[in-house]
Amino acid sequence: MAVFQEGGLMLAIPQSFLDQLKMSCDIESIVSGYVSLRRSGRTSKGLCPFHSEKTPSFFVYHDTESFYCFGCGAGGDVISFIMRIENLGYLDALKFLAERAGIPFPEEAREDPSLKIKPLIYEINRAAAHFYHDQLKSEAGAPGREYLMGERRLSTKTITRYGLGYAPSGWDNLRNYLRGKGFSDEDMLQAAVVVRGKDGKSVYDIFRNRVIFPIVDIRKNVIGFGGRVLDDSKPKYLNSPDTPVFKKSRNLFSLNFAKNVHDGKLILAEGYMDVIAMNQAGFDNVVATLGTSLTSEQARLMSNYAQEIVIAYDSDGPGRTATNRAVGLLEEAGLKTRILDMKGAKDPDEFIRKFGAERFKMLIDGARSVTEYQMGVIRAKYDLGSTEQRGAYLQEAAGYLATVPSAMERELYIGKLAEEAEIPRDAIRESVNRELRRNLRKARKKEEEGFESGRNFVRAGRQADESAQDGLIACLYHHPDWSGNIIARLPDNAFSEQAAGIYQALLSAQREGDGSLASLRERISDEQMSRLAGILARVSEGQLSITPEALEDYFRRLQGGRLEKEVRDSGNLSMEEARALAERIRRSKKG
Ligand code: GTP
Ligand code: MN
Repeated sequence: MAVFQEGGLMLAIPQSFLDQLKMSCDIESIVSGYVSLRRSGRTSKGLCPFHSEKTPSFFVYHDTESFYCFGCGAGGDVISFIMRIENLGYLDALKFLAERAGIPFPEEAREDPSLKIKPLIYEINRAAAHFYHDQLKSEAGAPGREYLMGERRLSTKTITRYGLGYAPSGWDNLRNYLRGKGFSDEDMLQAAVVVRGKDGKSVYDIFRNRVIFPIVDIRKNVIGFGGRVLDDSKPKYLNSPDTPVFKKSRNLFSLNFAKNVHDGKLILAEGYMDVIAMNQAGFDNVVATLGTSLTSEQARLMSNYAQEIVIAYDSDGPGRTATNRAVGLLEEAGLKTRILDMKGAKDPDEFIRKFGAERFKMLIDGARSVTEYQMGVIRAKYDLGSTEQRGAYLQEAAGYLATVPSAMERELYIGKLAEEAEIPRDAIRESVNRELRRNLRKARKKEEEGFESGRNFVRAGRQADESAQDGLIACLYHHPDWSGNIIARLPDNAFSEQAAGIYQALLSAQREGDGSLASLRERISDEQMSRLAGILARVSEGQLSITPEALEDYFRRLQGGRLEKEVRDSGNLSMEEARALAERIRRSKKG
């Protein structure tokens, strides 16, 4: 029986089931359902599905049943792979694999009372959504109706489609309603529709005197709520906290509608109201994040439904910053990205109210490429009437163009710049090329510095430290019988916090008889899992050695790294102490 934590709950899963699953899920055949792999020897490689790349840096290793991408650092076992690529939690990934392999999901796990919490939360959320919606339609809901229909111009049809609601003032309207339906305070707390007061006893409604936006997932479950005040008070929006069914970083508002539009395009907005207003104006393929900035998980989620994203964020400063961030994440997820150029309104909702749906459609159709958008942002900074500013403008624009990967696109904008500034194409091209060469030199230099880091003691201390930590973990993984020696000789504070966690987990798993990657999941985080997969990958690639001599070297370097840390930490050593420390360092370096 293996016990796992998910969403703060303990899940019990029989070991026999896990073993059976592991036997029937060959990592290569599972991964090759998503990635086209080329095999050579005990290794297969392909283009990483987790970031966009042109040359393969994604590897699958048969010996350790693991995968690792040297480009983006994603790694783990077959379950980590499914969790990532299918955007599933641990338990759902198990179910997914079991179904594929035709293995029945164990009854014990199903009957574990903690597993019933999800359906229960869905039920409570649905009841709460009904309550809020009925309130909006009732006499008590007049302020909410006035706000949504009067001020925000939403139609009855839109309100019904989104199941919008109203949470009346008062501390226990929802709680009393749900109690009447037989739900306990404990269950309501799990669903996070109520909160516990500071006294630790009282329990009261989380949403009061707010209009309510239910958040619905693609399976039509109500997973959480957003609530907006009706005036200018703060906080403007309140969102449900994460619960066992609600992960803000993994869901998108309105994806339940957007996923039904099959034209390969999604519009990404900042706010709930923007999404709803666009829907009312006839665009169903719109989503928004849930009160947080975009995550790479959400970018990947979108890539399951579309190849192209139009970013329709606010036109203000923060909106532009968020746009830049989103562009990076979306492009990493392999999505073509365009950016809405909105003038005369701060967000799509306001634009539609001011100028109408037709004009908004033109805006969407005319959304610009990322390069065009960035060139526009740069141009707006300068007064092209002034010769001096025009020079500065050309310089910055050339600098930016030198970061554009496509030669064709560069050439296109070189032409545009030449026309605009009335300067020969060749002159601009020359200056772009100069920047290109400079970038290339910088990149090369950085690479070389990486290789030569061993020469500089201070920097090398830090880096050797990291790779010696990895080496030591690799030795422990592949030679469990060395653990006695390693434990006895491990210098104090040899590990960073992250590596220490991996080391500890590995030791306890081996003590229990199974130190495989899969057995570590319940003890380490996803990031630690990726790091360990990276360590194993580097062993397989011959970049990290696990011989007895290498182990000695790791010990020595960890000792050195620790001394160096001591130097950094020791602001006020006496002359004598400093000399002694320096001597110890010299000795440890000689070995
Ligand atoms: P309206 O003022 O109703 O038009 O809101 P908006 O959707 O235009 O909101 P805004 O651009 O201010 O914010 C965009 C999104 O950020 C909102 O939809 C919320 O999800 C989130 N957000 C805004 N204000 C808050 C806040 O005070 N707290 C939290 N948690 N989220 C907020
Ligand atoms: Mn708005």
